[in-house]
Amino acid sequence: MIAAVPREAAPNERRVALVPESVSRLVKLGVSVHVQRGAGQRASFPDDLYQRAGASIVEDNATLARDADMLLCVRPPSDELVALLRKSTTLVGFFNPLADPGYLKRLAERGLTVLAVESIPRITRAQPMDALSSQSNIAGYKAVLLAAGALPRFFPMLTTAAGTIPPAKVFVIGAGVAGLQAIATARRLGAVVSGYDARPIVKEQVESLGAAFVQFDVATAEGAGGYAKELSAEQVAQQQRAMAETIAKNDAVITTAAVPGRPAPVLISEEAVKGMQPGSVIVDVAADTGGNCALTKRDQTIVTENGVTIVGTTNLASTMPYDASRLYSRNIFALISPFIKDGTLVLDEEDEVVKGACVVRDGKVLV
Ligand code: NAI
Repeated sequence: MIAAVPREAAPNERRVALVPESVSRLVKLGVSVHVQRGAGQRASFPDDLYQRAGASIVEDNATLARDADMLLCVRPPSDELVALLRKSTTLVGFFNPLADPGYLKRLAERGLTVLAVESIPRITRAQPMDALSSQSNIAGYKAVLLAAGALPRFFPMLTTAAGTIPPAKVFVIGAGVAGLQAIATARRLGAVVSGYDARPIVKEQVESLGAAFVQFDVATAEGAGGYAKELSAEQVAQQQRAMAETIAKNDAVITTAAVPGRPAPVLISEEAVKGMQPGSVIVDVAADTGGNCALTKRDQTIVTENGVTIVGTTNLASTMPYDASRLYSRNIFALISPFIKDGTLVLDEEDEVVKGACVVRDGKVLV
């Protein structure tokens, strides 16, 4: 069986689906790995490392697709590459199944099989495969570094000969994987940190990281599978009003609130931004899905009239492509390796992880 790794086509995508370490492990299981030339370049994994790990380097989409039994990718492959794949190919990667069913339909019409990492159930056994978590973790960390870089003041308290500088105050909205990592990172940098989530169940996790959990008198949003459910427009408007005062008191606000498959809730209104002090920073980790701040501009950093910097960088994980790829590659290996028998992929349709992750099979979209 041949596992193929394409060069990612999206312009701001620096990650690669498989790093040399996982290539060696797949080769040991009897799998041949074909890597498109330069696939790991932007993540600091040059072609010769892949060759040393036992991969063959292939040049173009046509050669890659012709031989592929499995296509391991980060983002959905280009239409051009999809058109070249054989019917029996299994695709593994991020496919945005809830938000982009049209794309999946096209893959189903081509007779392909698709395992979407977003649809892996969040059960204990699946934690090593949890690519949403591994990449959100990076996003949360990087968001704090961006905030610290943009803030015209220190994060930690400093006692100097010229007097004492108080620590920065950081407020993290949304305490899922990215939010909790943001809280932990901001704490490590010495800021005074508070957090909020529409799921009050995360209060203990926030507090265990040394941050205060802020409670507002608004609707909660406990949904299924550990996720939040979408709140109504009126409930989100209540959240906006309730949070404005807290937002105004903080130097940096990191927002990570998300609902799977839905646009991000807009939790910071234009009014709330106006209430912030000059020099304050908002890093909107939810910029990919529309943003948690009304003024966020996708992939731009703007400064408002009252001097608030709003960072709307999308795909934060891709800005740390070496470790993001390493972790993602391990996730992919953990997902597929239990089903490789004598060098061939045999998916167990009764397996809970396969049932969840398999979003296209036998010409049908299964979400
Ligand atoms: P996510 O990226 O879908 O959402 C981020 C956060 O935004 C969530 O905590 C959510 O409650 C919050 N949120 C949504 N709407 C909001 C609103 N209107 N106001 C304020 N906050 C809002 O979630 P993520 O990071 O993918 O993880 C969610 C949960 O999944 C985790 O907290 C955990 O319980 C569970 N999980 C379980 C794992 C396991 O293996 N058992 C592994 C990873 C996560």
